Amino acid sequence: PARSTIFSLIQPTGTFHLGNYLGAVRVWKDLCDLKQPDTKLLFGTADLHAITVPKPNTSEFRRYRQEAIASILSIGIDPTRAIVFHQSQVAQHTELHWLLSTITPMGSLNRMTQWKSKSNLKDLNDADAVGAVKLGLFSYPVLQAADILLYKSTHVPVGDDQAQHLELTRDIAQRFNTLYNREFFQLPTTILAPTKRILSLANTAKKMSKSDPNQNALIYLNDEPDVISRKIRKAVTDSVSHEFKYDPVLRPGVANLINVISGVQRKSIEDVEKDIAKYHSHQDFKNYVTEVLVEELRDPREKFMKYMKEPQYLEEITKSGAESASEIAEQNMKTIKEIMGF
Ligand code: ADP
Ligand code: NA
Repeated sequence: PARSTIFSLIQPTGTFHLGNYLGAVRVWKDLCDLKQPDTKLLFGTADLHAITVPKPNTSEFRRYRQEAIASILSIGIDPTRAIVFHQSQVAQHTELHWLLSTITPMGSLNRMTQWKSKSNLKDLNDADAVGAVKLGLFSYPVLQAADILLYKSTHVPVGDDQAQHLELTRDIAQRFNTLYNREFFQLPTTILAPTKRILSLANTAKKMSKSDPNQNALIYLNDEPDVISRKIRKAVTDSVSHEFKYDPVLRPGVANLINVISGVQRKSIEDVEKDIAKYHSHQDFKNYVTEVLVEELRDPREKFMKYMKEPQYLEEITKSGAESASEIAEQNMKTIKEIMGF
C-alpha cells in the first residue's frame, strides 16, 4: 500500500485563474513530478461543493467541469501518475459526509469564515439572514473532511484560505478515532502553497477568485497575450513612487504583482526586487509582468485549447480515474462502517 496519499480538489465554478494555478494546480503538478512510487495522488473537481454557491446554469456548469479537467491536464498533471476524477463520480463522498456530520459540532462549523463570506453576511445577529444560509454551504467543510478522509489522505495541498478547513478535518478525524477507540484516520497534513494569496487586480482587499464577476480582476489561464497585457495595464497600483519595492501594506497592488512574478519564477521577493530595480515607470514594470505571464501561460493555453476539442478524451480520463478512486473509497468505506457497527 501507498506510504502517503496526496489529495486535493478544486471547484469547477469558473475558468481557472492565476491564484488557482499558483495556489493549487501547479503545486499538484510539482507533486506529480516528484515521481515518488510509494505516493498515491488524487486530484479532481469538487463538483458537489460547486453547487453550494449561487448556481450557474446547467450548461455553464457542465462546461466548467470539462474546463477544470482540461486545465488540470494542460498544466502538465499526468493522468497515468495521478488519479484525476470528479468528486460526484464516487458516491462514498456524500455517504461519508453524512456519517461524519453526526460527530461534527455545530459550533465548530459556526466558527468557519467561508459560509459567512460566501453568503455576504454583514451582521451575524441578523436572524433572517443567517436563517437563509443553506445547509449545504454550512456543512461544506464536513463534505471536504469526508473527501480527504475517504482516501485516508496524509497530505492535502491547498491555498491558505483553506487552512481553517483542514484544521477542522483533523479535528473530525481525531473525534472519530477517539470515539471508536481506533487509530483509523491519520491526521492529514496541510501542504501550503509557497506563493502568497494572489489578490484581485481590481481590488486588493479581495483575493483573486473565480466567483468575481469582474473579469478584469482575474488573469485566466487561457487568456490570450493581448488580454493579459490589457488586464495588467489596468491593474490597480499606485503613484507612490516609480521604484518598485515590496510593501504589501502601503503598496498592495505593486506587492501583488511582485508576488505573481515571485510565484511564477519561483524566486524570492528579494530576488524579484533586484530584477525589477531597473524599471522606473509603471508602464515598464507592467510590461515586464505581462512578459513573464505570457511566457508562463503560453503552453498551458495551447494545450487547454486542444483538450477542450477532445471532450470524449476528457470523459475517458475521469471515468477511469473514478474507477480507481472508487476502489479505494469502497474499501475504506467498508472498514469505516464496520468500525461504526453497521
Ligand atoms: P476560487 O475562490 O477561485 O473559486 P477555490 O475555492 O475553488 O477557488 O479554490 C481552489 C484552490 O485554489 C484552493 O486550493 C485555493 O486555496 C486556491 N486558491 C483560490 N484562490 C486563490 C488565490 N487568489 N490565491 C492563491 N490560491 C488560491
Ligand atoms: Na472559492
